[in-house]
Amino acid sequence: MQSKIIGTGAFVPGGVLTNKTLEKMVVTSDEWIVSRTGIKERRRTTNSEASSDLAYYAAQRALKNAGVRPDKIDLVITATATPDMLLPSTACIVQGRLGMRNIPAFDLNAVCSGFIYGLAAADAFIRSGAYKTVLLIGVDTITKFTNYKDRSTCIIFGDGAGAVVLQAARGKKGILGSRLYADGTKWDYIHVPGGGSRIPSYAAGPPDYYMIMKGHDTFRVAVRGLEQAIIALLRQARISMRDIDIIIPHQANIRIIEALAMKLHYPMEKIFVNIDKYGNTSAASIPIALHEAVAAKRIRDNDLILFAAFGSGLTWGASLVKW
Ligand code: COA
Repeated sequence: MQSKIIGTGAFVPGGVLTNKTLEKMVVTSDEWIVSRTGIKERRRTTNSEASSDLAYYAAQRALKNAGVRPDKIDLVITATATPDMLLPSTACIVQGRLGMRNIPAFDLNAVCSGFIYGLAAADAFIRSGAYKTVLLIGVDTITKFTNYKDRSTCIIFGDGAGAVVLQAARGKKGILGSRLYADGTKWDYIHVPGGGSRIPSYAAGPPDYYMIMKGHDTFRVAVRGLEQAIIALLRQARISMRDIDIIIPHQANIRIIEALAMKLHYPMEKIFVNIDKYGNTSAASIPIALHEAVAAKRIRDNDLILFAAFGSGLTWGASLVKW
């Protein structure tokens, strides 16, 4: 039994934050941002929009594209590091709004690697026979926790949601394997100090509300981690890099993607990139990119797709899908 992706969907908020606008907020330039990150603009939620709103619309679209009614879903997993609130889970809020009743729903937090972790979890549930049809959403609203006075982080992140419907299917198509990793000794590389049980929101001061990032250190570990995960996964699946039809990587920085392509001797033309439009949307970046790649007909029947992601935790991983 395989888990097949039978529908994709995506949703980004309407608010566009361009490099030109950022030039008015911090000392930076469009040219610096484009050359160091590949990002031209990103989407930003308004005060009245939360993660579950984006997740709801992305999920609706994925369900429609899959031709699956909400009452046919057996499990909802929401990969997010920016839930609507500490409790309940955003997955429960979305499940209720979609009109799904009495099916399990939970959040999973692996930050920017959330979609890869979620895909592995959904696949395991389906292969075990526990659930047949799973809705997996990747959503983040990192801009809510971004300090727009910190030029090293505010240029990078954007908001968005992507979703897939996975279903048990016989045959050779579906998720072929996943490799997941974490290194918790580097938890402080990317973190938001306040709002949890360490510094509860009532005790937090302004610096605690926002994300802090060691950009340079993260960059180096990201390239190494992604390469390690991909090589291990291909070895496990007995597949060569030449057999991969398309790589859909987490959209963190175009230079990370280019460095990875060089290390793997893989052509950039076969790597899907949309970072210019959305920046780094954390757990949403791979499912948004997948949805756009499908819509643009960059993915054909029987294609081998490689997903690879890296993020706070530190977490990283890769998964292989036969379409
Ligand atoms: N505009 C202009 N200058 C900036 C700037 C900005 N937005 N941000 C930083 N700089 C400056 C720095 O202050 C520094 O100046 P200095 O040399 O006078 O001290 C200089 O640019 C170089 O800084 P550095 O941090 O070495 O730049 P970088 O090439 O490493 O790029 C990042 C910075 C953040 C873009 C890059 O490190 C990165 O993308 N890292 C990975 C982060 C990531 O992917 N995080 C999410 C993981 S999921």
